[in-house]
Amino acid sequence: MFYAVGCAGCHTPTLRTGTFRGVPEVSNQVIHPYTDLLVHDMGPGLADGRSDFQASGSEWRTPPLWGIGLVETVNQHSNFLHDGRARTLLEAVLWHGGEATRARDRVKRLRARRTGTR
Ligand code: HEC
Repeated sequence: MFYAVGCAGCHTPTLRTGTFRGVPEVSNQVIHPYTDLLVHDMGPGLADGRSDFQASGSEWRTPPLWGIGLVETVNQHSNFLHDGRARTLLEAVLWHGGEATRARDRVKRLRARRTGTR
Protein backbone atom coordinates (compact mmCIF):
# COMPACT_ATOMS: atom_id res chain seq x y z
CA MET A 1 0.00 0.00 0.00
CA PHE A 2 2.91 2.33 0.82
CA TYR A 3 4.10 1.99 -2.76
CA ALA A 4 0.66 1.94 -4.32
CA VAL A 5 -0.46 5.28 -2.89
CA GLY A 6 2.85 6.97 -3.75
CA CYS A 7 4.59 7.38 -0.38
CA ALA A 8 7.78 5.83 -1.75
CA GLY A 9 8.05 8.68 -4.25
CA CYS A 10 9.60 10.77 -1.45
CA HIS A 11 10.12 8.32 1.40
CA THR A 12 12.62 6.32 -0.70
CA PRO A 13 12.87 2.89 0.90
CA THR A 14 16.41 1.99 -0.17
CA LEU A 15 19.59 4.01 -0.69
CA ARG A 16 23.22 3.06 -1.07
CA THR A 17 25.83 5.15 0.74
CA GLY A 18 28.77 6.62 -1.15
CA THR A 19 32.40 5.72 -0.84
CA PHE A 20 34.16 7.21 2.15
CA ARG A 21 37.87 6.77 1.86
CA GLY A 22 39.31 5.18 4.98
CA VAL A 23 35.88 4.38 6.40
CA PRO A 24 34.86 1.12 4.76
CA GLU A 25 32.27 0.46 7.51
CA VAL A 26 29.94 3.10 6.11
CA SER A 27 30.97 2.90 2.45
CA ASN A 28 28.68 1.41 -0.15
CA GLN A 29 26.16 0.25 2.40
CA VAL A 30 22.58 -0.52 1.43
CA ILE A 31 20.31 1.21 3.93
CA HIS A 32 16.53 1.54 4.24
CA PRO A 33 15.94 5.10 5.51
CA TYR A 34 12.61 5.81 3.77
CA THR A 35 13.72 9.29 2.74
CA ASP A 36 15.01 10.86 -0.46
CA LEU A 37 16.87 13.43 1.68
CA LEU A 38 15.28 16.13 -0.46
CA VAL A 39 13.16 19.18 0.25
CA HIS A 40 9.57 19.27 -1.00
CA ASP A 41 6.83 21.87 -1.10
CA MET A 42 4.26 20.48 1.31
CA GLY A 43 1.61 23.13 0.76
CA PRO A 44 0.15 25.98 2.84
CA GLY A 45 -1.13 23.72 5.63
CA LEU A 46 2.40 22.88 6.75
CA ALA A 47 3.96 26.25 5.88
CA ASP A 48 5.48 28.37 8.63
CA GLY A 49 6.09 31.22 6.21
CA ARG A 50 9.77 31.40 7.13
CA SER A 51 12.37 30.58 4.55
CA ASP A 52 15.46 28.73 5.68
CA PHE A 53 18.55 29.03 3.46
CA GLN A 54 17.23 27.96 0.02
CA ALA A 55 14.03 26.35 1.33
CA SER A 56 10.85 28.43 1.19
CA GLY A 57 8.45 28.62 4.11
CA SER A 58 6.43 25.67 2.81
CA GLU A 59 9.31 23.36 1.95
CA TRP A 60 10.47 20.62 4.26
CA ARG A 61 13.01 17.83 4.05
CA THR A 62 11.55 14.34 3.82
CA PRO A 63 12.16 12.83 7.26
CA PRO A 64 13.39 9.24 7.40
CA LEU A 65 10.65 6.85 8.47
CA TRP A 66 12.97 4.04 9.59
CA GLY A 67 12.29 3.10 13.17
CA ILE A 68 9.27 5.40 13.32
CA GLY A 69 7.19 2.66 14.90
CA LEU A 70 9.43 2.86 17.98
CA VAL A 71 9.17 6.62 18.50
CA GLU A 72 6.55 6.35 21.20
CA THR A 73 8.47 3.69 23.13
CA VAL A 74 11.86 5.37 22.87
CA ASN A 75 10.94 9.06 23.06
CA GLN A 76 7.85 8.74 25.25
CA HIS A 77 5.82 10.83 22.83
CA SER A 78 4.15 10.46 19.46
CA ASN A 79 4.41 13.95 18.03
CA PHE A 80 5.24 14.04 14.36
CA LEU A 81 6.01 16.61 11.62
CA HIS A 82 8.45 19.52 11.91
CA ASP A 83 6.55 21.18 14.76
CA GLY A 84 5.15 18.09 16.43
CA ARG A 85 1.55 18.95 15.61
CA ALA A 86 0.53 15.45 14.54
CA ARG A 87 -0.28 13.13 17.43
CA THR A 88 -0.44 9.99 15.32
CA LEU A 89 1.12 8.71 12.10
CA LEU A 90 -2.20 8.94 10.28
CA GLU A 91 -2.60 12.54 11.40
CA ALA A 92 0.88 13.26 10.01
CA VAL A 93 -0.13 11.78 6.66
CA LEU A 94 -3.36 13.79 6.57
CA TRP A 95 -1.35 17.03 7.01
CA HIS A 96 0.52 16.26 3.77
CA GLY A 97 -0.30 18.74 0.98
CA GLY A 98 1.52 20.39 -1.89
CA GLU A 99 3.58 17.83 -3.79
CA ALA A 100 2.16 15.07 -1.56
CA THR A 101 -1.50 15.93 -2.14
CA ARG A 102 -2.17 13.01 -4.46
CA ALA A 103 -0.69 10.45 -2.05
CA ARG A 104 -2.66 11.92 0.85
CA ASP A 105 -5.90 11.83 -1.12
CA ARG A 106 -5.29 8.20 -2.04
CA VAL A 107 -4.95 7.40 1.66
CA LYS A 108 -8.25 9.16 2.35
CA ARG A 109 -9.93 6.96 -0.21
CA LEU A 110 -8.59 3.72 1.27
CA ARG A 111 -11.15 1.48 2.88
CA ALA A 112 -10.81 0.04 6.33
CA ARG A 113 -10.34 -3.67 5.86
CA ARG A 114 -9.52 -6.57 8.07
CA THR A 115 -6.00 -7.82 7.56
CA GLY A 116 -6.54 -11.07 9.41
CA THR A 117 -3.56 -10.47 11.69
CA ARG A 118 -5.67 -9.73 14.77
C1 HEC B 1 6.05 14.92 -1.90
C2 HEC B 1 6.86 14.10 -1.00
C3 HEC B 1 6.16 13.23 0.03
C4 HEC B 1 5.22 12.24 -0.19
C5 HEC B 1 4.64 11.76 -1.52
C6 HEC B 1 4.91 11.70 1.11
N1 HEC B 1 5.62 12.34 2.09
FE1 HEC B 1 5.58 11.97 4.07
N2 HEC B 1 6.68 13.62 4.43
C7 HEC B 1 7.24 14.41 3.45
C8 HEC B 1 7.83 15.58 4.08
C9 HEC B 1 8.59 16.69 3.36
C10 HEC B 1 7.58 15.46 5.46
C11 HEC B 1 7.95 16.47 6.56
C12 HEC B 1 6.80 17.49 6.69
C13 HEC B 1 6.91 18.35 7.95
O1 HEC B 1 7.73 18.08 8.82
O2 HEC B 1 6.13 19.30 8.07
C14 HEC B 1 6.87 14.19 5.64
C15 HEC B 1 6.51 13.67 6.87
C16 HEC B 1 5.96 12.42 7.05
C17 HEC B 1 5.73 11.79 8.33
C18 HEC B 1 6.12 12.36 9.69
C19 HEC B 1 7.47 11.82 10.06
C20 HEC B 1 8.07 12.46 11.29
O3 HEC B 1 9.13 11.94 11.74
O4 HEC B 1 7.56 13.45 11.81
C21 HEC B 1 5.14 10.58 8.09
C22 HEC B 1 4.71 9.54 9.11
C23 HEC B 1 5.01 10.46 6.66
N3 HEC B 1 5.53 11.59 6.07
C24 HEC B 1 4.44 9.39 6.01
C25 HEC B 1 4.08 9.40 4.67
C26 HEC B 1 3.21 8.43 4.05
C27 HEC B 1 2.61 7.20 4.76
C28 HEC B 1 3.07 8.81 2.75
C29 HEC B 1 2.16 8.20 1.72
C30 HEC B 1 0.73 8.32 1.99
C31 HEC B 1 3.86 10.01 2.56
N4 HEC B 1 4.44 10.35 3.74
C32 HEC B 1 4.00 10.68 1.35
C33 HEC B 1 7.24 14.18 2.09
C34 HEC B 1 6.38 13.30 1.46
